[in-house]
Amino acid sequence: MSNNSQEFSKLGFVLSAAGSAIGLGNIWRLPAQVAQYGGGTYLFVYFAICLTFGLSVLLAEFAIGRYFGENYFNRSKEVLAENNKPKAWYAGLVLSHVTPIIILSFYFVVCGWVLYYFFGSLFGQVSYNATVGTPSYYEGVFVGLIGNFKLVYALVIVFIVATAAINYRGVTAGIEKANFLLLPLLFIILVVMIIRSLTLPGAGAGVAYIFSIDFSVINKELIIAALKQSFFSLSIGSGIMIAFSSASGKTMHLRNTAIYTVALGAGVGLFTSLLIVPAVFAFGYDLNGGPALTFMTLPNIFANLPFGFVLASLFFLVMLMAALTSTISLYEVPTQLFSKVFNLSRQKVVLWLIVLFVAITFVQTASFSFLSNLSIGKLGIFDFSANLTDLMLVIFGLVSCIFATWLVAGKYIKNEVSSNGLYNVETTNYKLWYYFTKFVAPVILTVLIFLVVQSLF
Ligand code: PHE
Repeated sequence: MSNNSQEFSKLGFVLSAAGSAIGLGNIWRLPAQVAQYGGGTYLFVYFAICLTFGLSVLLAEFAIGRYFGENYFNRSKEVLAENNKPKAWYAGLVLSHVTPIIILSFYFVVCGWVLYYFFGSLFGQVSYNATVGTPSYYEGVFVGLIGNFKLVYALVIVFIVATAAINYRGVTAGIEKANFLLLPLLFIILVVMIIRSLTLPGAGAGVAYIFSIDFSVINKELIIAALKQSFFSLSIGSGIMIAFSSASGKTMHLRNTAIYTVALGAGVGLFTSLLIVPAVFAFGYDLNGGPALTFMTLPNIFANLPFGFVLASLFFLVMLMAALTSTISLYEVPTQLFSKVFNLSRQKVVLWLIVLFVAITFVQTASFSFLSNLSIGKLGIFDFSANLTDLMLVIFGLVSCIFATWLVAGKYIKNEVSSNGLYNVETTNYKLWYYFTKFVAPVILTVLIFLVVQSLF
């Protein structure tokens, strides 16, 4: 099996799972939320959720993915039938695979923006000249860009095609190779940038902000935001980790891979917060949430630093690489879904998906210009899709927990996590994970899902 070109190598699997986790969510969404919800307290709750629910769901998804194996849709249906369990759970598994399509519909648009900022910073369309680079200049750049439909749409299509080109090559030659190359590079640039940020005079206040925890400010909104962010940034509840582990070797140590993925996925969030927040403090800017932080405040900071355009280009390069390692994982899910459901080759599905994504990103991109009136409820379609998929991730994360602990017999899950007895699972930690995933996670996640739904109205 190990020579099968569609099976991950051990390191490749860890890197691909981590690559999926590390994405725009960590760079674009997390620091903005740290800003919005009060620094260290938010991070503390976010990490706590990653280490409990995050780890629990991730290992559940790894276990069922590998147990069901390559034909995991069919196999899951058979397992449900063998055990007399309701077929509806199968529908849950299939539906979870739709989430990445909706995520990509808006994620690709942000990728398009980042692509512009990268090339614009490198070639001068975005200026980092200290006299030009005022807050209103950067606001103008951003507002001008997102309203420029033709430009953004062209860039979005470039990103779609780049993603498809990697996925076309398959799991090992495409996804795994890309991650081998991109992730180490991303880390190196990130570390260099953090050092630069932390050595700015006045950065200390930002560091203190990131590490100060005040339990009295923890409220429902903060918990819901941290919950959604942790599922999004670990890529759980989206079918990705199931799809990846269904293509992993039987000796892969699932528990360790889950721990590394959480550590890398959540760890990068700490890194990017350490990069962004202290720099914002050093310059005394407002620590505002949303896209303004990455696309306006940060460029403004770069403008005030020597070699600002180099730093800016590197920063947006990191974003591009992180985005690409996530889009290839997101793209893989509908690829698996449609190739299995319609019995088509990977290559054919990858090409058809280009058509699908070019079509749906049209609407998302245009929602910032000529379709700006389009709304669903009180939200524009971009925000609506983000909110909807956040909710879907938690719901399908819950479905994964139920699959791993209620629908598949415990002995099979034990077999997977121990890799057929290769690793010891007769431990308290294993029991802790199993019972947490079986009883605690479903109850608490159900309550949280209600709160998330309530927060939408
Ligand atoms: N984890 C990715 C990020 O943080 C996004 C993502 C979400 C990828 C869900 C896959 C599934 O950007």
